[in-house]
Amino acid sequence: MGKIAAPPTLSTSPILGLFFGLFLAAFASDAVAQKETSTTISVSCGSVGIEFQVCESGVRAWEAKTGHRVQLVSTPNDSNERLALYQQLLAAKSGDIDVFQIDVVWPGILSNHLIDLRDVVDQKVLDQHFKAIVTNDVVDDRLVAIPWFTDAGLFYYRKDLLEKHGRKLPETWQEMTETARFIQKAERDAGNDRMWGYVFQGRAYEGLTVNAVEWLDSFNAGTIVDLDGKITVNNPRAADALTLAASWINDITPQGVLNYSEEECRGVFQSGNAVFMRNWPYAWPLMNAKDSPVKDKVGVAPLPKGGEDGKPTSTLGGWQLAVSKYSKNPEFAKDLVRYLTSIEEQKRRAVVGGFNPTIDALYKDEDVLKANPFFGELYETFVNAVARPARATGVRYNQVSAEFWNAVHATLAGDGDAKTNLASLEKTLERVSRGGRW
Ligand code: GLC
Repeated sequence: MGKIAAPPTLSTSPILGLFFGLFLAAFASDAVAQKETSTTISVSCGSVGIEFQVCESGVRAWEAKTGHRVQLVSTPNDSNERLALYQQLLAAKSGDIDVFQIDVVWPGILSNHLIDLRDVVDQKVLDQHFKAIVTNDVVDDRLVAIPWFTDAGLFYYRKDLLEKHGRKLPETWQEMTETARFIQKAERDAGNDRMWGYVFQGRAYEGLTVNAVEWLDSFNAGTIVDLDGKITVNNPRAADALTLAASWINDITPQGVLNYSEEECRGVFQSGNAVFMRNWPYAWPLMNAKDSPVKDKVGVAPLPKGGEDGKPTSTLGGWQLAVSKYSKNPEFAKDLVRYLTSIEEQKRRAVVGGFNPTIDALYKDEDVLKANPFFGELYETFVNAVARPARATGVRYNQVSAEFWNAVHATLAGDGDAKTNLASLEKTLERVSRGGRW
């Protein structure tokens, strides 16, 4: 059993104090009641939609089982802001957070600060997870994180509006544009002047990289940098994809999308003011909650393809749990990771929160499928999602992504055309890559 440890004073930590938006969740019970033998550790959880509550209930169950206590740290919604926070903490070798929720694109960036988790789960258990995700969590032969949930971009559509206006589900981005424009106009003519055709994550942040990788790959235009580290982004098909996306702004998409992340999109779509939306699976249970204005009116499909020669593509997202090298209680932290990533907990999270398991067998689980019917129908979308170029670019991934999202954002905002912006992005990435060596 662990020794008594004073709860880390996160709220007074100078490093965390620096960071805007961070706050501590309340303790479940009074600190005085802490058992002599209990230890307090802390875990960072995302807070998009009901993510924080779902994390908290899992954590509370572990507390009840072990008698230890956990502080939950709510982190910024934009994943690159979360990364900046983590990097500050870890660079200072701070033990303020024991367990980190890390993005699928970060193992290479953070690996030096994370411990090897090979002894946390048996190989047999690890083998139940999607292999590609486990492989992604191995850096220099060390398992630096364990998969917690996976993500893939989905196309949400209003079934009722397609039916009302006699339109079929679009299969290409070009059809999507036309259908969105048609329904938007008809709905506006009928009095809903707040109706828009399509909303997506257009803010200058990691979510825009995700969306734009989907556009590019669906046009067979690659994924910025290929698996061998070659910069591929400056090509005519990529320019076509971005030119089409830029044409949406102020036509079928509000100008405000240039500052939308996941939750702003969900806000517009869920209040009934958009025909189509790109978002992650977490939006599904919220869309169908009792008080949702679009309850039972929403369908989910693969994202459209980039023309007849294109393909429907989703960017791979998702989150892992990792233990900090600076944790003072790594054994407890590992036990929490083991618990939270277990099949039972992944099932619970899928049922109550729509979080995609990383364990294949759960895609055949009746309760999981009842809560999320599209987990079965879109199984191929989840397993074939395309990766952002994080492996090839290693520690430089965030820089690459930031250059890319800025170039895309400028294009959407009408600041330079796609062709010019991609050409200058290529030059910048050449510098970032130090001549292809990354
Ligand atoms: C989701 C994905 C994550 C991605 C982020 C971008 O949280 O799971 O991988 O980086 O969205 O907004």
